[in-house]
Amino acid sequence: MPSADSSDEPASFFLTTPIYYVNDAPHIGHAYTTVAGDVLTRWHRQRGERVHFLTGTDEHGTKVERTAQAAGVSPQEWCDRLVEDSWKPVLRTVDAANDDFIRTTEPRHEKGVQRFWEVLREAGHCYASTYEGPYCVGCEEFKLPGDLLEGGLCPVHGTPVEMLSEENWFFRLSAFSEALLAHYEANPTAVQPESAYNEVVSFIKQGLQDISMSRSSVAWGVPLPWDASQVVYVWFDALLNYATAVGFGTDDERFAQTWPADVHLVGKDILRFHAIYWPAMLLAAGLPLPRQVFAHGWLLVGGEKMSKTKLTGIAPSAIVDHFGSDAFRYYFLRAIPFGSDGSFSWEDMSARYKSELADQFGNLASRLTSMVERYRDGVLPAPVPNEQLSAALQQAASDADTAIDVLDLQSAINAAMGFVRTVNNYVTETEPWKLAKDEARAGDLDAVLYCTAESLRAAAVLLNPVIPKACSVLWSSLGAEAQLGPISEQRVDQVARWGQLPAGARVTKSDPLFPRLDELSDAGGRETAPGG
Ligand code: MSP
Repeated sequence: MPSADSSDEPASFFLTTPIYYVNDAPHIGHAYTTVAGDVLTRWHRQRGERVHFLTGTDEHGTKVERTAQAAGVSPQEWCDRLVEDSWKPVLRTVDAANDDFIRTTEPRHEKGVQRFWEVLREAGHCYASTYEGPYCVGCEEFKLPGDLLEGGLCPVHGTPVEMLSEENWFFRLSAFSEALLAHYEANPTAVQPESAYNEVVSFIKQGLQDISMSRSSVAWGVPLPWDASQVVYVWFDALLNYATAVGFGTDDERFAQTWPADVHLVGKDILRFHAIYWPAMLLAAGLPLPRQVFAHGWLLVGGEKMSKTKLTGIAPSAIVDHFGSDAFRYYFLRAIPFGSDGSFSWEDMSARYKSELADQFGNLASRLTSMVERYRDGVLPAPVPNEQLSAALQQAASDADTAIDVLDLQSAINAAMGFVRTVNNYVTETEPWKLAKDEARAGDLDAVLYCTAESLRAAAVLLNPVIPKACSVLWSSLGAEAQLGPISEQRVDQVARWGQLPAGARVTKSDPLFPRLDELSDAGGRETAPGG
């Protein structure tokens, strides 16, 4: 939750995704984090909050350096190409409304990184020493012996680790064990879900070791300001994006106004960096800690984390080209509890597209708009109260809002879709097509048409953060755009006030919101993951 603001200024909400490695093109696992962040962003905006949604790319380090080398181009050329051709376009593919996109090769970031580590060294938090131990290039992470699988393999990538031995600079992480523990004991929701919280606390309780924060064997990075033979270790460069993007090191006033972040969304594989190293760095610099780190699960293929390296990555456009961006956004958040792992399957996606988006939501919208056109020449009858529907709406809106506060995106969607089901049942039970045949029941028909349209108005507002394209089409076809203004400005916290659509709104039949799709006859040619 954003902090309560005593002034009249709306609360601000600062939300981040991890910054993505540019060694390869995005797959749906990456887009999953971005979409979750985007749904939260849109929901908070529709609460009237000022939201800052940050995403970007992590461009330094061994992995990118080697990939560029193999492709025969400079690391900078490689990064520019991947960012422009793959990473920025995927935001449009999934319809993400981010406010900023930070690249770690930008001067605003590099300056901030140097300033930060200079401050920490001056405060005595860094010292020179020798590092020896296993390193996974895939994770860009120094591993502890207990982390490895049998045969010395990385547990995330299943590949052999490399043994490193070099002179470099260390960060006194061990000095922050107690402060971190005290912070987490006082703030049990600072890491979520609970399983992630428990993992972090038990890791800290085992005792934290000082950690190497620079590398001498890597050239592609931010040089240490006090030792030009070293670059900042890529994670201790990347984590700082959250601060440099909002002005750390370049615009102190902006930084003071925006920091700390309200939520860092991360995959569970990068929890330790965000919930231990990053807050320890901030404590060392005397800066406030992020309010929450939320670790979501993995999209799996054959029971393993989907990844391009293992050739199991599916490009977001492969799904969006067929189902559309709304269905992409809806499916992953609706089908998988946020925080758990889940498998993607074309069959499950097709089934939910049809039964939930097309049959429940799209069909209700086209039934209502065509009935108003046919029976009332497209003019909405006057508002009438409806206790059953208003109560269901009240409940759905409040359930969804509460769920969003704890990042339970699945329950938020279920609450809104549960309301859509209630409205469908209402239409089935009241049988407006029969009322239309009986002149004496014109008043009843008016009431059913109004109540259904008004319910759809509310459903569009509640579902807009998830399926913005369809909701905006519905919004216009209800005549709501002309009467109530843009859908993005409709408040989710006022959605349950009944009777907002005025009499006389011009209702027009639109094309189906979720049209029938050809069967996925070519699915055999796609990379297909088992359902589950
Ligand atoms: N560059 C680091 C993050 C630095 S943040 C300061 C990194 N990049 S990544 O590209 O490998 O991963 C970015 C995000 O995508 C992570 O949150 C990761 O968990 C997520 N995912 C990558 N593969 C995924 C799945 N198969 N499923 C769900 N999320 C996945 O780590």
